[in-house]
Amino acid sequence: MFKRMAQAQYFCGLDLGTHTMKACIICAKDEENLDLMGVFETKAMGFKEASISDIAELADCIRRTMQGVMEKTGIRVHAVQLGISGSFLTARRSQAVIPLIDSGTKVVSAFDLRKANHQAELLGANLDEDIIHAFAQWYRVDDVNTSINPAGLVGRKIESSLLLLTANSLRIRNLTKAVHQAGFEVGSVVFGGYAAADVAVDKAEKMQGVALVDIGANITSVIFFKHGLIGDVQFIPWGGNTITRTIAERLSLTVDMAEEIKKTQGQAGRTVPSDVSGEVLVRREKGYMPIRREAVCEAVNWEIENFLTHLEAVVKGSNLYHQLNRGIVMVGGGSLLTGAIERIEERVNRPVRMGGSTPGLNNAPVYATAIGLGRMHYVKKKQGSLSIRTPLDLKDKIVNSVRELCQEYF
Ligand SMILES: Nc1ncnc2c1ncn2[C@@H]1O[C@H](COP(=O)(O)OP(=O)(O)OP(=O)(O)O)[C@@H](O)[C@H]1O
Ligand SMILES: [Mg+2]
Repeated sequence: MFKRMAQAQYFCGLDLGTHTMKACIICAKDEENLDLMGVFETKAMGFKEASISDIAELADCIRRTMQGVMEKTGIRVHAVQLGISGSFLTARRSQAVIPLIDSGTKVVSAFDLRKANHQAELLGANLDEDIIHAFAQWYRVDDVNTSINPAGLVGRKIESSLLLLTANSLRIRNLTKAVHQAGFEVGSVVFGGYAAADVAVDKAEKMQGVALVDIGANITSVIFFKHGLIGDVQFIPWGGNTITRTIAERLSLTVDMAEEIKKTQGQAGRTVPSDVSGEVLVRREKGYMPIRREAVCEAVNWEIENFLTHLEAVVKGSNLYHQLNRGIVMVGGGSLLTGAIERIEERVNRPVRMGGSTPGLNNAPVYATAIGLGRMHYVKKKQGSLSIRTPLDLKDKIVNSVRELCQEYF
C-alpha cells in the first residue's frame, strides 16, 4: 500500500496541539522547494489542558494521526519532528559573564561565545527543566561593546544574554515516550510557534520586525522578530477554547455544541452586524432549542475584548513594539474566527495578516506549525548529513577548529 521511496526525501512534522493533533509529510528537493504531500488532523486525546492525562490514549491518538497522514499520502515515515505548544513552555531571560583569559586580553573566539552561552544556560534553567531553545540576544565585551556577533573583538570578559524556552523534563520525556509507543522516532522537540514562523513569516519580515501570533486552543504565543532574530516570546493563557467555554456557559450549551456554534455563527466584530439576527436551532436531548444569533456574537465579543486587552498589553508592552514595521502575522485555529484580524489590527495599531498560506490547502494557518516542523526536520537532517559526508565541509571544520585554537592560545 505504501510506496517504497528513498526515506531521506520525505520529512514529517507532528504538531502535538492540545486540541487538535496535526501531522504533515513534505517532500524536500532543497530548502526553497518543499512540496507538501499531505496533512492530517485528529482531535487530541490523552491531554487535559497541558498535562498528559492518559499516555496510552495519547500514543493511540498519535498513531491514528500518523496512520492518517501516511495513508493519505501513500508515504511511510519512521521519525517525526515533534512540536509542542506554549502550554508546555516557560520563556525566561538569562545572562552570564565569563573571563576570557586569566590576565591581559584576548581575541573573542566562537569557542568563548559557546562557553558564555553554556554558562547562561546553566544559570537560567532549573534542575527539573530541559532547554528546548536558547535564542542568543546579545553579547557584551568588557561592559562596553554590545554586539550580536563579537567574535574577533579584543577583551577581558564576555557577557552573554539568552532568551530560554524551557520545559519540564518529565513532561518532555512522557511526550516522547508516547511518540515511541505509537511506533515513531523523535527527531527533536521544537516549540511549535517557532516552527510555524519558518513558513508563515519570510526572512525580510523577520529582519524588518514582525510578530507571529499563534492562537491555539488554550494558549496564544507571541513571537517577536527583529534583525532576523527572535527578540521576545510571550504567552497569553487564552485560546479558542476560552471562547467556546464562554459560549457554553452563557447559553447553557454543552462544549461540543458551543464549539460548533462558534465556528458557524461566531463573529469577532465589536458590534453585532446588522445582518446577524434571528435564531439557530440547536439539537438537544428533547427536541430542538432556539439560540439567538445575536447572543452568540455578544458572548464571542465579550471574550474577544478580554483577549485584546491581554494582547495589547503584550504587544504594546514589548520593547520591540515600535520596531514591528511589518506588523503581525497570525496562525493557529483560533485565528480563523471571522473578524479576528480586523479587531486585532484596530487594537494594536499595526497591519495584521493571516500566515502560512499554502496553495490548495484550506485553513492553512492551522497547519503552519506542522508544515514548519516538516521543513525543520529536513533542514536538520541536511545539516547533520552535510557535517558527516562532505569532504569540503570537513575541511572547513578542521580549518575553523585550528583557527579557534590559535585564537585561544596566541
Ligand atoms: N473556523 C474556526 N473559527 C473559529 N475558531 C476555530 C475555527 N477552527 C478552529 N477553531 C478553534 O481553534 C482552536 C484550535 O486551534 P489549534 O488547532 O491551532 O489548537 P492546538 O494547536 O490544538 O492548541 P494549542 O496550541 O493551544 O495546544 C480551537 O479552540 C477551535 O475551536
Ligand atoms: Mg498549537
